[in-house]
Amino acid sequence: MIDVIKVAKQLKSAVLADPERFYTKETGAWVEGMPTPQEIQVRTGREPYWINLGYWRDVERVNENNVERVGELFKAAQTQMAHLLAKTARLGPEDTVLDCGNGYADQDLLWAEEYRPTRITGVNITPNQVRIGRERVRLTGLDGVIRLLEGSATALPFGANEFSVVFALESAMHFRTRSDFLREAFRVLRPGGRLVMADMCQKTDREAGVGLRRRLHYRYWRGLIAFPEANVWSTQRYLSELTGAGFKNARLDSIASDVYPGVNTAIVALRGMAAISRRLGNVTVEKVRENVLKARQIPEDQLQWTDLFNCDEYAVVYAEKP
Ligand SMILES: C[S@@+](CC[C@H](N)C(=O)[O-])C[C@H]1O[C@@H](n2cnc3c(N)ncnc32)[C@H](O)[C@@H]1O
Repeated sequence: MIDVIKVAKQLKSAVLADPERFYTKETGAWVEGMPTPQEIQVRTGREPYWINLGYWRDVERVNENNVERVGELFKAAQTQMAHLLAKTARLGPEDTVLDCGNGYADQDLLWAEEYRPTRITGVNITPNQVRIGRERVRLTGLDGVIRLLEGSATALPFGANEFSVVFALESAMHFRTRSDFLREAFRVLRPGGRLVMADMCQKTDREAGVGLRRRLHYRYWRGLIAFPEANVWSTQRYLSELTGAGFKNARLDSIASDVYPGVNTAIVALRGMAAISRRLGNVTVEKVRENVLKARQIPEDQLQWTDLFNCDEYAVVYAEKP
């Protein structure tokens, strides 16, 4: 039977595209098989809780032969995404970092320990995540370096020229709006500072000429992941928004082929393995293998990110404040 309340809530979320819905009491895990906020129990502070699709270039992809190791492989790819951004930013000991939309602070712990910037400030809109992130920072003894604030990337509580690097790791598409964030990032960066993001967009404008039915379909799915319509940009639009905000040397490097196919099979395996461990239905490892094999056969341009969100691009975005 249809759960009317659940459907009504989903419709409301889809229409409002509310970022705070992520990981609050109403929602579960962002991918089935990952813990819900209620399930997260911080023990050492080092248990990973990444919320990104992962950068799979040098990570073993999940296939029908390794589904049991999906958790470990997924986390490895998510860690690589954080390394990729740090390297793009040339992150080092001189840097004062602002990390916008930092989830449970996984990347902040990693950057603090491996790249040793002077200071990292995280700003995140989801109270649950900030609370858990703070607990992790305290337990890992990094509270002298990392501070985490609740707030929006579109109204940053800082003066001008305070940071040398601003990051947004797979979060800017959720900001209402991304344009407002670019203006804020520009303001708080000092001259010579770098803006580095991992973000979803379109290789070329895919919205023009789309019929009403299809438009509603995209709007619904984007709404469910809190992706406001105002943030649906082509690469070209992205570059002109960066330039319009005052940035120079702006570029978008496509990593779509190292993100979408990898996460596609990982999600299928994760869901299946979670169903087995939670004893939901009659799922067997054989069934999970079969589903992963099927998922591998979906052409790249028909994967869910293109089909549901109309975003066939995933890029590392780089720009400098003159
Ligand atoms: C896909 S998650 C990425 C989290 C983290 N960067 C990671 O890789 O694990 C997107 C994050 O953006 C945050 N977020 C959404 N809208 C925001 C806003 N306006 N300001 C700050 N954070 C926001 C969400 O709470 C979530 O933590």
